[in-house]
Amino acid sequence: MPLHTTVIEPSPATARQADFAARLEGWQARIERELSARLPAIDIQPSRLHEAIRYSVLGGGKRVRPALVYATGAALGVPESMLDGAACAVELIHAYSLVHDDLPAMDNDDLRRGRPTCHKAFDEATAILVGDSLQVLAFELLANDPALPPEPQVRLQLVQLLAIASGTSGMAGGQALDLAAIGRRLSLADVEEMHIRKTGALIHACVMMAAACAPQLPDHLLRALDEYARATGLAFQIQDDLLDVEGDVAVIGKATGADRALDKPTYPSVAGVEASRRRMQELHTRALAALDALDAAGLQAAPLAAMSNWLVLRKY
Ligand code: IPE
Ligand code: IPE
Ligand code: MG
Ligand code: MG
Ligand code: MG
Repeated sequence: MPLHTTVIEPSPATARQADFAARLEGWQARIERELSARLPAIDIQPSRLHEAIRYSVLGGGKRVRPALVYATGAALGVPESMLDGAACAVELIHAYSLVHDDLPAMDNDDLRRGRPTCHKAFDEATAILVGDSLQVLAFELLANDPALPPEPQVRLQLVQLLAIASGTSGMAGGQALDLAAIGRRLSLADVEEMHIRKTGALIHACVMMAAACAPQLPDHLLRALDEYARATGLAFQIQDDLLDVEGDVAVIGKATGADRALDKPTYPSVAGVEASRRRMQELHTRALAALDALDAAGLQAAPLAAMSNWLVLRKY
């Protein structure tokens, strides 16, 4: 048989990666549509604020958090259509955190998702109001979205999970620790605490919010998901720090060297690049091990394993 007609069968691992890549693309396209449908239209007043909101949320970003909501749903048999409101809510909180994170009073960044940051494209006051608006819209969705589980106790739990992850014990508190650390030496334990709060908490909430929509999940499976989500959240910020050192601006769509320029303690600045990679790998291994309990219960842990894999291997 001539060589050019030989068909090389993909290995099972390659086929699984291709399946996940297609699934991820599907989730990314889905969340883009779902977000767009829930954001205020530009032709409604105040149109400049609405334009800045749409600019900051749409047309960029990896959509890691919504993908984690859907992947957890896939593992637990919760349909995507039931989770759209929660996936949007968590991405809105994330988008608001980025708009505020980039402000001159915080990280003072000009580039985000390959475009000028919100306060550069609009102005600082508008960027502050974009954050304010996105934050409350997230909670409005959890209260009102018609497809989320209707039971009041589930709605309350969703509100509680997202509020705690966003507040001073989560994202906002972590951002305060981050700003207070500028120019200081932190222990590795302090860096981990900061990362767990500023980034890990919201990632953890993605998994637990999807789990809250799955009826009667036994405690040991909730604990396994909690362990998976904690490990994944910390690993995610370690890779973000590594990309700030080793990433390519054209690929990551934000400045590199920004942490060092601001004299911020990060995982690699405290532990070194190699130890950071090892810690991330260890957390990835821990996340995968936690999923064994789901497999043992006959659930589909594969999408969550693939998510963890993607997040530690990502280049942006
Ligand atoms: C960047 O998050 C900020 C952190 C919390 C580390 P992402 O890397 O998820 O940013 P986008 O949404 O893809 O732009
Ligand atoms: C951001 O951490 C965490 C947030 C809560 C937004 P970084 O400041 O490292 O995020 P990037 O690198 O600007 O995206
Ligand atoms: Mg920051
Ligand atoms: Mg920043
Ligand atoms: Mg960063």
